[in-house]
Amino acid sequence: MGEVWLGDIRLRNRLVTSSSLLGYGAPDPGVVPYGMSPISRFVPLERFGAVTTRTLTVQPRDGHFTNRTDWPVRALPSLLRRYTTVLRRVDSGWINAFGWCNIGIETYLRDYYPRTRAQNTIISVGGFCVDDFVTLVDAVNTAVPAGEIAAVEFNVSCPNVDHDFEPILAGVLTDAVPASRHPVILKLSADRDYVGHARRAAAAGVSALTAINTVRALRLDPRTGAPWLANRYGGLSGRAVKPIGLRVVAELRDAGITLPVIATGGIRSFDDCREYFWAGADAVSLGSASWLASYPGYLLAPLWGWRIRSLLRKVEAGGLPVSGKRCYNPQRHSRGSR
Ligand SMILES: Cc1cc2nc3c(=O)[nH]c(=O)nc-3n(C[C@H](O)[C@H](O)[C@H](O)COP(=O)(O)O)c2cc1C
Repeated sequence: MGEVWLGDIRLRNRLVTSSSLLGYGAPDPGVVPYGMSPISRFVPLERFGAVTTRTLTVQPRDGHFTNRTDWPVRALPSLLRRYTTVLRRVDSGWINAFGWCNIGIETYLRDYYPRTRAQNTIISVGGFCVDDFVTLVDAVNTAVPAGEIAAVEFNVSCPNVDHDFEPILAGVLTDAVPASRHPVILKLSADRDYVGHARRAAAAGVSALTAINTVRALRLDPRTGAPWLANRYGGLSGRAVKPIGLRVVAELRDAGITLPVIATGGIRSFDDCREYFWAGADAVSLGSASWLASYPGYLLAPLWGWRIRSLLRKVEAGGLPVSGKRCYNPQRHSRGSR
């Protein structure tokens, strides 16, 4: 099966990767090459329908973790300790609070994007005000010719940056969506009014929806009551959220939303993909399953790589129950660059 179109979004196939799980699509430079999933050694990233970057902001941010890449090997234990305050395995899933830890849009476009041109990319951007989104879209417009990436994804649904996105959503949709020369995807949260947001997105010329972001969650040390994560609250992902993701996709369709939906939430197997397509998805996205494991579990990366390659083969071969509810947004093709 060849490339697929979700409205004006071109994907190489219907299996993409979710924001952040494969970093920026290329490893960080530095002594400790963190930032990339071990599976990237065993799965050529250009095989995915598209790879979605970590959410990029206007300025670099440490978030609740760190952007430092020059960790000497002897500092590794303290780095790993710190890591457990932003990412923990929990009941059938994972809870994380990286808080948009990222290198900033400029560095990404200068140092990382050029190294990922063989892949199809979705650039995820996030901001705290309307101007941030307009600035981010302008930066991508300037650096990336139309048609070179699949889309820009707007993250206005992160549960661990402690920001209320509701007041800026209308402005982001009216100002930043038409400013983009690339198709725009809006990422939805199960914690918010996702049907309302989807309706507003469709009216504003958004090309597709991604459902769902991580679900706001909390874990405490049962003996002391101390929160597991440095940010107290985090976002739940993995198998635990699959039934919630399915509910959101189905409810979007039940509500008459016709925009293409890229589903993410606990997907691991071909049956998971099938289930999401029956619920109304047009593409599926691998999140936690493309990256997260216990440290000893990373030794099994070649096996995971094999599983993901065979999942890709099945998706490429077709056999997914395509919803037939895709909608085409002709406005975008006549849109000029700013
Ligand atoms: C460690 C981690 C970091 C994430 N960072 C981002 C991010 O920067 N931006 C974003 O839109 N979603 C982010 N997500 C959410 C995922 O893209 C995805 O929507 C979510 O994890 C649900 O899919 P899954 O259950 O398959 O992991 C992150 C998820 C995890 C586990």
